[in-house]
Amino acid sequence: MTVDIVTIFPAMVQAPLAAGIVGRAIERGTLDVKVRDLRDFTTDRHRVVDDVPYGGGPGMVLKPDPFFRALDAIETDRVGPLTVILTSPQGKRFTQVDAQRLSGQPHLVLLCGRYEGFDDRIRQRVTDEISIGDYVLSGGELAALVVVDAVARLVPGVVGDEQSVAEDSFSRGLLDFPQFTRPPEIACRGGAGNAGSATASAERVLKVPDVLLSGNHAEIRRWRKRQAVARTLERRPDLLDGAVLDEEEKQILRELQDGRSAELQKGQARNHGRD
Ligand code: ADE
Repeated sequence: MTVDIVTIFPAMVQAPLAAGIVGRAIERGTLDVKVRDLRDFTTDRHRVVDDVPYGGGPGMVLKPDPFFRALDAIETDRVGPLTVILTSPQGKRFTQVDAQRLSGQPHLVLLCGRYEGFDDRIRQRVTDEISIGDYVLSGGELAALVVVDAVARLVPGVVGDEQSVAEDSFSRGLLDFPQFTRPPEIACRGGAGNAGSATASAERVLKVPDVLLSGNHAEIRRWRKRQAVARTLERRPDLLDGAVLDEEEKQILRELQDGRSAELQKGQARNHGRD
C-alpha cells in the first residue's frame, strides 16, 4: 500500500511513523509512506500556506492551491485509484469498518487540516472526510497517524500474526477478553481497584484466574468468550447491536442479560420494601 501524508508539520508525523509495526512495514517495503510538506507546493517566496478568512473572523485559513498542487503531484505518482482523506472534526467518525475498507485500497492520501480551518473548496478533491472522535485537535496530523496505524495493521503482511488481527476487539464487535502473563501472583498497592477504600494503601495479591492455569483448553475458551461478552455488555453495550456472535456467545449474552434483569428486579423489590 502507498500512503501520502500532506501536512504543514512533517516532523510531527515522521517520528511516529518510524517506530513500531508501521515503521517495520515501511522498512520491509510492505508500506510506502511519503510525508509531503504542504509548503513545498506554494509558489511564493515566503511559502505561505494560509490566509485571512473571507467575511472576516479570527484565525487563518489553509489555502486551497497548495493542496491542489500537492494532489496534482501525487496523481502523477499514483499506483492506482487515489483515496483522498481529509482529517477534520467535521468528518464521519472513523471506525474499524472504515479501517477495513481503506486497507483494501492501493493508494491513500491524507490531507491534514488545521483546527482554525481550511478553504472549503479543498473538499472538492476529497473522497472521505474523517474525524477520529468528538474532540478538537490542533491539527489533523495526529488523526492522520491514527488512520494510518489502524489501516496499515490490516494490510496483509504488516502484522506478523494475522490471527491476532482477525480476533481483534471490534473486528467482530466484541471487546477483548482479559489477558494475563507471568507471574501468576503479584503484590499491588493502591490503584483503581483500591480507590476510595479505607485501606487505599493496603497491599493486595492479584492472582491470575485459576482457569487460565488449569491447562483445560475447552474451559479456557469458554471463559474467554464469557469475559469478552460480559465486558462488551458492561462497557460498550452499543457494540452488541452490530456484533457477529456465534451460538455459544449468543447463549452467554442471554444468560448475562437474564442475570442482569434478575438483579434489577431484586433491587427494585428491595427498594419497594423500603417504601
Ligand atoms: N482535526 C482536529 N480535530 C480532529 C478530529 N477530532 N479528528 C480528525 N481531525 C481533526
